[in-house]
Amino acid sequence: KTLKDLGDLKGKRVLVRADFNVPLDGATITDDGRIKAALPTINALRDEGAKVILMAHLGRPKGKVVPELSLAPVAARLGELLGVAVPLAADTYGDDAKAKVSAMSDGDVVLLQNVRFNPEETSKDAQERAAYAKRIAALGDVFVSDGFGVVHRAQGSNYDVAADLPSAAGLLVEKEVKALSHATVNPERPLTVVLGGSKVSDKLGVIENLLDKANRLVIGGGMVFTFLKAKGYAVGSSLLEEDQLEKVKGYIDTAKQRGVELILPTDIVVNAGFPAGDTPIDPQVVPADAIPEDRMGLDIGPESARLFHDAIVDSKTVVWNGPMGVFEVPQFAEGTRAVAQALVDATAKGAFTIVGGGDSASAVRNLGFPEDGFSHISTGGGASLEFLEGKTLPGLEVLN
Ligand code: 3PG
Repeated sequence: KTLKDLGDLKGKRVLVRADFNVPLDGATITDDGRIKAALPTINALRDEGAKVILMAHLGRPKGKVVPELSLAPVAARLGELLGVAVPLAADTYGDDAKAKVSAMSDGDVVLLQNVRFNPEETSKDAQERAAYAKRIAALGDVFVSDGFGVVHRAQGSNYDVAADLPSAAGLLVEKEVKALSHATVNPERPLTVVLGGSKVSDKLGVIENLLDKANRLVIGGGMVFTFLKAKGYAVGSSLLEEDQLEKVKGYIDTAKQRGVELILPTDIVVNAGFPAGDTPIDPQVVPADAIPEDRMGLDIGPESARLFHDAIVDSKTVVWNGPMGVFEVPQFAEGTRAVAQALVDATAKGAFTIVGGGDSASAVRNLGFPEDGFSHISTGGGASLEFLEGKTLPGLEVLN
């Protein structure tokens, strides 16, 4: 169900679950992509004359009030973006939330305090969660699920509350589902999947599902060293998940059997260690099959960047999840930049390109790429990965 199915919303109190789990440096939001992504739904509801009551989580405060995880910076940023004041309730469903909601006029926006300050939000006890969800539901007349980043969770404010109110997906959830389905259900081919990020163990489900669907699998990031090791190469002191080696060997074989082209880097940018503390930044490019024992791989090299670029640009559908290296440090950001540029070039040639959420979405924005260089930048981290794994997502299922 979508917004249209909720009928006339004029004067109605619309509870909207958003995903405002943004990266913070102290109280400064370092990437407001998730807040901007929520604006179409908020504006559509305001235009209809609804009272918009937003709920969201920030971080993992584990049921305690953690002042550093207050949604205050989000309320302030939202206010700037919307051009109206967005009052923040001191609690999620208590006296202040009730008072702020009763004082609302049509078109107003209120943000409730971090739902995860309540232990019931993430409780494993379904009854406890349901009782809590009822208290939240009492604040609204209808529920809109627009926090795509949390649809893989079954928690009070995004899952249980849907049982108590007429519910529908917001515009962001609708757009995300459309885009991710477009790339995975009957995609235009070749379909190239680019995976990076630090841990191969986070991507096992995606690899398994996409080995069935993709024409090409391009691997970089910290996870690639387990692939290079599985091929018998020396990886020095690079990140390695020994316990995944057998699985990864199996993937290499499966790719071969199924005719999926597996593209691994041919050169690597190494350093004496992770660039933190006293470790100097002294990048060198070495062949991917001969990383010196005392060096750590931190990015793909320039030859690999060209190889990846060519594979991506020659695709009709591209799904990318996970940075190619330690992009936060400029000397190790070139691989990630090259892949982002390749997606931009592919988009310009008419391909459908998706940047999976989390770190890759932040990387794209922080490296200065324009949003419209890609067909879709997902706001989901874990959620978009689980979608790509082909899993059933509880926060979506509950809306059906
Ligand atoms: C995310 O950042 O991926 C979502 O906001 C979900 O957060 P969580 O992993 O803490 O549930």
